[in-house]
Parts: sequence; structure tokens; C-alpha cells
Amino acid sequence: MLRKEYLMTPGPTPIPPQVSLTEAEPMIHHRTPAYTEEFVRLLEGLKKVLLTEKDVLVFAASGTGAMEAAVANCFSPGDRVMVAVGGKFGKRFAELGSAYGLEVIAYEYPWDERANPEVIADHLRKDPDIKGVFLTHSETSTGVVNDVRAVGEVVKESKAILIVDSISGAGALEMRTDQWGVDVLVIGSQKAFMTPPGLAAVAVSPKAWELVERSSSPRYYFDFRKARKKIMEKEPQTPFTPAISLVRAMSVAVEMILQEGLENVWERHRILAECCRAAVRALGLELFPKDLTGAYAVTAVKVPDGLDGRELVRHMNRRHGVILAGGQDQLKGKIFRIGHVGYYNFFDLVVALSALELSLKELGMDISLGAGLAAAEERYLEMTERAKN
Ligand SMILES: Cc1ncc(COP(=O)(O)O)c(C=O)c1O
Repeated sequence: MLRKEYLMTPGPTPIPPQVSLTEAEPMIHHRTPAYTEEFVRLLEGLKKVLLTEKDVLVFAASGTGAMEAAVANCFSPGDRVMVAVGGKFGKRFAELGSAYGLEVIAYEYPWDERANPEVIADHLRKDPDIKGVFLTHSETSTGVVNDVRAVGEVVKESKAILIVDSISGAGALEMRTDQWGVDVLVIGSQKAFMTPPGLAAVAVSPKAWELVERSSSPRYYFDFRKARKKIMEKEPQTPFTPAISLVRAMSVAVEMILQEGLENVWERHRILAECCRAAVRALGLELFPKDLTGAYAVTAVKVPDGLDGRELVRHMNRRHGVILAGGQDQLKGKIFRIGHVGYYNFFDLVVALSALELSLKELGMDISLGAGLAAAEERYLEMTERAKN
């Protein structure tokens, strides 16, 4: 069969043609009005998507760069912070905190559940010296989506700031940065934002800026103060050479999100997730998260007994060109993940589900071909008919 690839991973994700074409445009210089215009368009667009009036700073880095920047800019060695750890990316925040000499209190919650805001509230009450709470919005490694709004309410009452990794959330899932009390929001280009990897951004609140001014941690390239100074100028810029093509490309992608309408984008992701779940269940497979509330970015599925999870992912890629993600860390081989965050519609899901059914059968599982697809289609009709009426 002709080899065609279908990227169904939760990052990187497919790039819309108009975004790719923008990347291919002739280079422009960044210290020019033409660049400033495009940069400002991106910043203004991002504010609308993230529902924030805060300062938005853009860095040439993958998401982890901006996570590190949040740690380095907001805290000083010895500061006590609480990190909610329920997956690989929560763990990353804890590791970054330790790397910068912070005293990290890890709140470990089960990887198939959401963080409990009450536990965070309790810690903050007992330990008013905690300076920051780190939370992963959409924990891509498990498919679980945390209740940022509830945690925001809890943290707002304390001296601590709330830092949220929304690298696979905002732009696809509801994220009301200001209303929910997020002090530092971290995003990346390669998931919901339908742009190649390499750009990251943060939105920083006045409460967080107070800490930024006081932080004694080392920082240079990722210094929030330098970045803010440059966006405050009459012709906003970045302190260093920006990833010019990515900035222009992401600006087009942001415009696409705004044109579709934020709430429509959120609803599209909900529909895709619900259809995917219906298919998985109809095939007799089990979803990984116990708590599926709001889990609309990635569908994490338990590998059924008797099947090698890594082999399933490899087989789908080699035989059918459909690229899914396997499990990470302690979930390696135990789950597989279907990404539907970003530039996806129902028919992308159909491709992935069809390849999944074929692969399960080819690997010897007793499933009924078409059962998952039928369930997904039924759910799709139900959900979209309801929207029409
Ligand atoms: C929730 C989350 N946080 C952090 C990261 C790390 O981002 P990056 O790989 O862009 O550095 C990812 C990417 O997979 C992610 O999904």
C-alpha cells in the first residue's frame, strides 16, 4: 500500500496548510516595522485565546523552556513550592524546581485521577510560606485534565502564585487564565496551536511579577524582565533574535482559532474526545483515566491483556502509517494514546480508529471490525444533531 502518514499524537500535531505556507515565506528582519506588526498580532491574538489581559512573553523554545523560565523567574533558591504530580509533566515541574534549588513539596496524586483542590488548600493553610503552586492543566502523559478553576480559587486566597502548564490544554480546552486566577500560564506551539515545535509563551500576572522582581535565581535568555522591557517599547520586540517564521506561522494559527470561535474550538475537542471514548469502549477496551471530566485533549487507553502496547503502536505506524503515542515513564507499554488536540476533525479520528481496529485484529485480538467506528459515528451524530436543534 502507498505509505501515507497520519499524525495522531498529542504533540507535535498536524499543521494546517496555511500555517505551513506562512513558514515558507521569505525571511524578514526582526528589527523592522513589518516584523513588529506580526509579533504584535501574535501577542494580541494569544491574549484573546488565553482570555487574559496579562503580559504575554514569547520565547524560542519548546514548552519545557517556558516551564523552566517560570521556575527561574518566580522563585529563589530555598523557596518552598508545592507541585501537583500526577504524571510525567507534573514530575517535570518538580524536577525543574529541584534543579533551581527550590524546596519542592510534591503532592503526588494517582496518575488516573485529577488533583484534589482540597488537598492543595489544606497544604496552603498549614504552610503559609509556600510561595507557589504548580499544576498541569492537561496531563498529556495520562489524558487527565485538572480542575484549574477550582485550584485557582484555593490559591487566590493564599500568598502563593499559581503556575499552570497548559501546553496541551489552552487553545483546545477551556482555559480562562484571568478569571481562574492563573498567575503564570505556560503554553507551547506544537499542540493546540497547530504550529511546528519551537515557540513557547507565558502569561504573567501582577502577583507573579512581584516575585519576578525579587527572584535571585540565575536567568539570562529566559529573563522575564528583559522580555517585558522589549514588549513595552513603542515598537514591541524580543530581546534576542526571535524564531521569526514560527512567530508568523503561529499568528496565522491563532487567527484560525479565533475565526472558528473559542467556544466552538472547545466544543470540537469535546466531541472528538467523546467519539473516541465511545469507540474505545465499544471495542471492549478500557480508558486509562478514572476521572474523565474535561479530558478532551488525548484519549489514553489501557493496553488489553495479551497485547504488547509498544508493538501495537509500532504496528499501527509501520503497517498503516497511523502514528499514535505509547505510554511514558511508568505507563510505558501499559497504555496507548490517541491525540486529538489541535487541527483535527471527526474524519481524522475515523482514520485512527479504523487503523486501530485493523491493528488489533492483525495482532490477534478478538474484536468486531467496525464496532468502534459505528459507536463513534453514532456518538458524533448524537452530539452534532443536538447542537443543530
Ligand atoms: C503537558 C505538557 N507539559 C510539558 C510538555 C513539554 O513540552 P515540550 O516537549 O514542548 O518541551 C509537554 C509536551 O509533550 C506536555 O504535553
